Amino acid sequence: MTIPRYYEFQNPVKINAGEDALRTLPAELKRLQAARPAVITDKGVSNAGLLDHVLNGFKNSDITIGLVFDETPSDSSVTVVNRIADLFIENNCDSIIAVGGGSAIDTAKAVNIVVSENEKDLRKFVGADRLSARPKPLIVVPTTAGTGSEVTLVAVISDTEKGVKLPFTSRLLLPSVAVLDPKMTISLPPRLTATTGMDALTHAVEAYTCLQKNPMSDAFAWSAISLISNNLEKAVSSGQDTSARFAMANASLMAGVAFSNSMVGAVHAIGHACGAVAHVHHGNAMAILLPYVMKFNLDTIGHLYAELLLPLAGAEIYANTKPTLRARKFIEEVLLLNYRLSKLCAMPVKLNQAGVKRADFKKIAEMAVNDGAMLPNPKDLSESDVLSILNEAY
Ligand SMILES: [Fe+2]
Repeated sequence: MTIPRYYEFQNPVKINAGEDALRTLPAELKRLQAARPAVITDKGVSNAGLLDHVLNGFKNSDITIGLVFDETPSDSSVTVVNRIADLFIENNCDSIIAVGGGSAIDTAKAVNIVVSENEKDLRKFVGADRLSARPKPLIVVPTTAGTGSEVTLVAVISDTEKGVKLPFTSRLLLPSVAVLDPKMTISLPPRLTATTGMDALTHAVEAYTCLQKNPMSDAFAWSAISLISNNLEKAVSSGQDTSARFAMANASLMAGVAFSNSMVGAVHAIGHACGAVAHVHHGNAMAILLPYVMKFNLDTIGHLYAELLLPLAGAEIYANTKPTLRARKFIEEVLLLNYRLSKLCAMPVKLNQAGVKRADFKKIAEMAVNDGAMLPNPKDLSESDVLSILNEAY
């Protein structure tokens, strides 16, 4: 293994994980000197009764919930963030609890920017390292296992007026605590379990193979892949399997730590473009594109894919595969995983099943080559390279 001449690694997020981890919320807020949290979530979470699990934990505590906002849309916007920030201030809140998937968590991070920086408009802080104020305590309770947003320094929010997605990156966006409680992911439907799980796998694979990889992120990525390999199909086929659910929550978090400290790559760049142009669900785009982007990268980083065959396929398959064939075998195993998941929950495995039209290709390719996630990909991609990948994945 080659260690880069210089790298940085940081994960200051406290992790409270396991059965009834939610019961630690009041004590954590106290430790963070907060007494009046705003809870930011979405209708899916409140309708599934998951919000009650969180709120019930405060019944006999001296913490007062200052605000419950459960109208976060699946693709959150600057308008929504600014609105919640106003409510946060009106209700004298001093901290945030985010309960949900990527959108609720990113919304909470963005609200934290507005209320901490004491500015009216979120748009002033777009980009990398634009924050300076100390953030409010932010506790994250994920209800999906995929984005890893509970441990990342990124938030993405839509500017619906301009039709673009705005990225915000800063160490100050890292949450204070991530609470993984298996009962919070138990009701996630099979297809969403599969696609968010494949997002986590893509985070781990891209973190392990991109130009900014380092030994620390490698360790997290490796363990995440092993957990996903042993538990994703179980979590999809038997949603009530709390140990598989908990393992996937851990895998998602570990993959999040990995890519937050290295980066992602071309799967994410092309996937972001598929989302923007053809509204393909992020996890689904990841599942479909991962094998085909790996085929493209194969001649440059085949040795790294070969290594990953061990955590993905296990010792027996690894030992029985000739070293020169291990990289191709790894890609084949990911494809087979996609097809098995598709059998379990009808997850699309080709772009034409996910709403992409051939007429979208040109625009997707143009956007993908300009996406920030393209920079750390181990091999440069031209628009025509992206078009070839899209054709293969179609
Ligand atoms: Fe992702």
